[in-house]
Amino acid sequence: MRQKFSTWLRGIPLRWRLTAWYVFLLALILAGFSAFIYFNMSRSLKQGLDSLLFSQGEQVLSSLDNENGLPRLDPNLPLLPGTYFGLYDTGGKVLDTNMPADLAIGFQVKGLTASRPATVEIKGVEWRVLLVPVREKGQQPYWVLVVRSVEETEEPLDRLLLFILIAIPMTLLVAAGGGIFLARRALQPIDRIAAKARQISATDLSRRLDLPHGNDEVGHLVATLDEMLDRLDRAFQRQRQFTADASHEFRTPLAVIRSQAEAALQRQHSPAEYRQALEIIRDQAEWMGNLVAKLLLLARSDDRMEQMEMEPLDLGELVEGVTAEFQGMAAEKGLRLVKKIKENVVVRGDQTRLTQLLANLVDNAIKYTPEGEVVISLERRGRQALLQVQDTGVGIPEEHLAHIFERFYRVDKARSRAEGGFGLGLAICDWIVRAHNGKIEVESAVGRGTTFKVWLPLNEGLH
Ligand SMILES: Nc1ncnc2c1ncn2[C@@H]1O[C@H](COP(=O)(O)OP(=O)(O)OP(=O)(O)O)[C@@H](O)[C@H]1O
Ligand SMILES: [Mg+2]
Repeated sequence: MRQKFSTWLRGIPLRWRLTAWYVFLLALILAGFSAFIYFNMSRSLKQGLDSLLFSQGEQVLSSLDNENGLPRLDPNLPLLPGTYFGLYDTGGKVLDTNMPADLAIGFQVKGLTASRPATVEIKGVEWRVLLVPVREKGQQPYWVLVVRSVEETEEPLDRLLLFILIAIPMTLLVAAGGGIFLARRALQPIDRIAAKARQISATDLSRRLDLPHGNDEVGHLVATLDEMLDRLDRAFQRQRQFTADASHEFRTPLAVIRSQAEAALQRQHSPAEYRQALEIIRDQAEWMGNLVAKLLLLARSDDRMEQMEMEPLDLGELVEGVTAEFQGMAAEKGLRLVKKIKENVVVRGDQTRLTQLLANLVDNAIKYTPEGEVVISLERRGRQALLQVQDTGVGIPEEHLAHIFERFYRVDKARSRAEGGFGLGLAICDWIVRAHNGKIEVESAVGRGTTFKVWLPLNEGLH
């Protein structure tokens, strides 16, 4: 039920809801304010009436005459119009009065408390009455009753009530109109943003909302959305570029395979020639297989499907393993492969991935170093493990340094290709390092060599 209500509420346009809230709150405030004024005014009018009764009562008392032992009132007593009095004996009999006879009889002295004003209803009309006791020496006690109609207090109250009952709805009506106008004005930019945003599709991410905006909430929204579009646009562009690059990579080996097969089919060849063609085809297929494996890995890393299997890992052992694996390749090129290992450097990581990381770096170092040495070193620096692969190779020109971790980025395309490189190795390294909460850095001087530094958090917390 409650949920239904809130769903229904959310279906109502925001400007109506805002206005409704605003009018509702204003109604509450006005009602409270009016009630306060009404009751205050009612109280002070009643107090005024009561003090008038007291003063009139005193006047009546001071002008009492005695005639044949009976009290009498001065007929010229200057009482306020609307003030009635009655002189009663203790039995409640009327001795003297300026009231119409039926009214005078209507008042019952019994039941009234002396000197305390009370309200009495006679034939549907309310009166405010004050009973004043009169005692004179040797005289029978009697009462003076002073009376005024409460109408004089009710009339201004009624007028006030009427005013309130007309003024409040009118104020609310005007406020609602103003509220809708203001809410519409305030929300107009949001409608415009929505309309503009609707026009921007995934295929057209280069467009921006591009709405004029100030330094307010709406302005921040527009700026934030435009920034988000920027990021999306860049991500889509990268993705498109990635697909284009990947397709492009496959063209050369496919062309080679096709031309080899066609040449082989065209005429009879010697077994040795067939063998050679098949070897070329096999190499190209292998190359494509490698590329597919790397592409798949990157694609899965993007989708976060590639899970890391984290376990405490001695990096020293890992370096030993990789160094041993690359010894042959280094020796073939006449390079020295040197390792400098500090013992007991343990991190939490995925063995397969960290091996791949180091292998990629060492592979690069050997590939891009014509002569000299490749040094792999491992040490602790504070709470980090620092793994470095240093070579005396060709180096990387400054302007390329920022890009080498991008997919398919190769400084010297022809050269890398000749070496069998795709430009994906460092992109994979970057992903692996980030998945381990680490950092990868590169320093390089053209012609002198390159150093890759990998920082990984040590596995200390668990001991
Ligand atoms: N140690 C290095 N010395 C000089 N240049 C390097 C070194 N390491 C990487 N590079 C440059 O950075 C580029 C990107 O390296 P990356 O490992 O990503 O690709 P690759 O080695 O060309 O191909 P892949 O690793 O995918 O087989 C390389 O093409 C190369 O130009
Ligand atoms: Mg590489």
